Amino acid sequence: MDNRPIGIFDSGLGGLTAVRELHSLLPREEIVYFGDTGRVPYGTRSPETIRKYAQQDIAFLLSKHVKMVLAACGTVSSLADTFRHTVPVPFTGVVEPASRAAAQATRNRRVGVIATTATIRSHCYRQTLQRLDPAIQVVEQDCPLFVPLVENGFLDPGDPIPYMTAQRYLRPLQESGIDTLILGCTHYPLLRPILADIMGAGVALIDSGQETASFTSMLLQQEGLLCGEERDGTCSFFVSDRVEGFSQAARLFLGGEADPRVQYVDLDSFGKETTGCLEEIPCPKN
Ligand code: DGL
Repeated sequence: MDNRPIGIFDSGLGGLTAVRELHSLLPREEIVYFGDTGRVPYGTRSPETIRKYAQQDIAFLLSKHVKMVLAACGTVSSLADTFRHTVPVPFTGVVEPASRAAAQATRNRRVGVIATTATIRSHCYRQTLQRLDPAIQVVEQDCPLFVPLVENGFLDPGDPIPYMTAQRYLRPLQESGIDTLILGCTHYPLLRPILADIMGAGVALIDSGQETASFTSMLLQQEGLLCGEERDGTCSFFVSDRVEGFSQAARLFLGGEADPRVQYVDLDSFGKETTGCLEEIPCPKN
């Protein structure tokens, strides 16, 4: 048993979809979330820059004595094999859990992946899926306009702007006959109603954040690292830019009523005890 928090990070808000899932699976666990809002987006940057940012994000979470780190960012996860050995606690990204779920879900062995440009360029999903089952054909598509649409609240299926954007990105995937589509970026589940409508009921949508939350829960159980106390888990939120606005946007991702309270962290000096003590607040309920 281990009562230390679980650390989750993302380039911004998207990882909150994984927080929501993890909190509903493991309601006793304390979660420390870091969103690198000062440097989002990661998905358009070079591998070197993304890796450097990820290592700083992880160092911040380790300073909070986390027992495990979850990279709830598709873009960071696409490079995780190049730095996971440097993380001194159990670590997971979203690629392996989402790929496993897709490999199980597909019947015709044609799987689509939508994600940021950096993730698609890495071909990490293709490699992972074909390692799991060499017969799987993988169709990859980057969707660079999805993150700004989500960040700006363009989510309504009746709104032609996100709907037509999605139609355009998804056309090649529809034509390829996939029966399973990985939402390889943690922002994309917020567009799920639109994506599901366009792809139709015959295509299973795999939410990378959700799958990773289940994987994390299983891993903590296997390693004997679950919280041993009877308590209500709390979430502490940290960001690297303005806290105003994050709470409101976070409510959208967390699906709760209460505004989560958020603290600013200066990544350059996080090691110098400048963040103050953690503010413990209950996680918004699903
Ligand atoms: N969180 C990122 C991901 O899941 C999307 C946003 C970004 O480009 O940083 O890939």
